[in-house]
Amino acid sequence: MPKTINVLFLAAEAEPFVKVGGLGDVAGSLPYALRSLSNEDVTLDVRLVLPYHPVVKADNLKPVGIFSLKRGDAEIQVEAFETVLKGMPVYFINGDPIQANGSVYSSNSKLDSEKYAFFSLAALELPRQINWLPDVIHGNDWHTALSVYGSLTKRWEEGARHVASVITVHNLPFMGPDVSTILESYGLKLAQTDLPDWARVMPMPLGLWASDAIVAVSPTYASELLQPEYGCGLNEFLQSRRETLHGIINGLDETSFNPAEDAALGVNFDITSLEKRAINKGLLQERLGLARESDTPLLAMVSRMDVQKGVDLAFTALKSMKKLNWQAVILGTGDPKLEEAALNLQASYPDRVKVQTRYDAGLARQIYAGADMLLMPSRYEPCGLSQMIAMHYGCVPIVRAAGGLNDTVVHGKTGFIFEKIHHMSLMGAIKTAFKIYGDKEKWQAMQRSGMAQDFSWKNSAKKYLELYQSIIKP
Ligand code: GLC
Repeated sequence: MPKTINVLFLAAEAEPFVKVGGLGDVAGSLPYALRSLSNEDVTLDVRLVLPYHPVVKADNLKPVGIFSLKRGDAEIQVEAFETVLKGMPVYFINGDPIQANGSVYSSNSKLDSEKYAFFSLAALELPRQINWLPDVIHGNDWHTALSVYGSLTKRWEEGARHVASVITVHNLPFMGPDVSTILESYGLKLAQTDLPDWARVMPMPLGLWASDAIVAVSPTYASELLQPEYGCGLNEFLQSRRETLHGIINGLDETSFNPAEDAALGVNFDITSLEKRAINKGLLQERLGLARESDTPLLAMVSRMDVQKGVDLAFTALKSMKKLNWQAVILGTGDPKLEEAALNLQASYPDRVKVQTRYDAGLARQIYAGADMLLMPSRYEPCGLSQMIAMHYGCVPIVRAAGGLNDTVVHGKTGFIFEKIHHMSLMGAIKTAFKIYGDKEKWQAMQRSGMAQDFSWKNSAKKYLELYQSIIKP
C-alpha cells in the first residue's frame, strides 16, 4: 500500500470556479476533505481537474503543458493550466471543443459530447505533463466517465502500471450522448461489454463498466439503482456489479453553511440562541412582501424547477390547502413550464405565495434561516443538499422517502418523510407538520435535533479513503 495516494479527481464543475448544481458543491468540497485526512500513515494528494469553460473564474493560472490529442487525421491542441487553492493544485484543460460551447452544459448534445470526450481524454494525458502519476482516477457523472473508461486502456509509464478507478454517480438518468464515432476518431475501441446494447455507446455506462468501484451519493440511492424504477435500464447490469457498488452520502461544507457566521443573514444564531431566528423570519417576510406574522407557518422551496424535484406536487398540494393558514416562498429557475406553474400559484394566492424565478444564493440562505419548513417532494433524489442546509439552519424539512432524503432526515425527529409520489401524500405530511408546529416546545426540539446533526464531510471522506485503499493494487 503506497504511503501517498495520488488521486486525479475530475468533474465538469466545482465551486468556487464554476457551479451549476449539486455536483459543483461536491467537487468543490470533497477533494479538500480527502486531503485533510492525511496523517502519518497516509498522505492523500488529491488534485482536481476541470474543463476551462469560458465561464470559469480562476486567478493566477500558470501554464503547465501544451500537447495535442490525435483525432482522426487531425491534431487537437490542449493547454493545461494550474492554480493552487487552499493548498490543492487545481488544473484546467483548454482546447477548441471546450471553447466551442459557452455554457457548462448545453442543450446541443453534439457540442457536449465533443467537449466532455475531449476533456476526459486530455485530462488523462495531464499526469505525464506534470510528472505526477495517479493511483486513482476518480470520475463524476457522465461528463468525466470516459476518463475512467480511457484509463483502462491507457499504458501508464513504460510497463503496466495499475491505475485504479472510481466513478461517483450523482444522477444516473443523465448518461451522455452516443460517443461511438468520437471514441473511434480518438483511437479508442468500443469494448466488448456486458452492458445492454443501447448503453454500450454512452459515456456513463462505459464508465460504470470500466471502474473498479461505483459510488452512489447515498446508501438509499445505491439500493434504488438496483431496482427497475430507478435503475434506468442498467439495474440488471448494476446487480451484476453489486459487490463494487457503494453508497456514500455527500457531506455539507459546514464552514460555509453555518447560521452562526453566515454573512447573508440579518441576525446570526445557533442552537443555543434559536429565539433569534424569529427576527430572520420577520426580515424575510418583509423582504418578500408577506405579512409579518410570526405564528403563520412559512413554507419554502429552494429548488431547481425540474420534474425530478417534484415541485409540481408541491404546487398542487398548496393549491388544495385553501382553508389552512400558511405562507410560502419559492425560489428557483429551470423548466419554463414549472416556473409558469409557480407564478400561477402566486397569482391564485397573491398575499400568501411569493415566487422568485432566479438563482440567488444570498436569498436562499435567508430563506433557510427564516422559513419554518422546507418542501422537498423529489421523485428521486440521489443525495440532495438543501434538506441538510435547512436542518442546519433550523428549518424543518418535509421530504419524500427517496435517496439521500431518506438517509438524512429522521421522520418525526428532524423532519417529516412521506412515501408516495402524490400531492395528497405530501399534503398529509404538511398537515402533520402544522400540528407539531402548533406545539412550540416540540417544534423547537425538532429544530434543535436538525441543527445538531453532523453533516460534515469527515465520515464520508473516510469512506472514500477506505474505498481507494481497497482498490489500489500494489
Ligand atoms: C445531483 C443530484 C442531487 C445530488 C447532487 C450532488 O444534482 O440530483 O441529489 O445531491 O447531484 O451529488
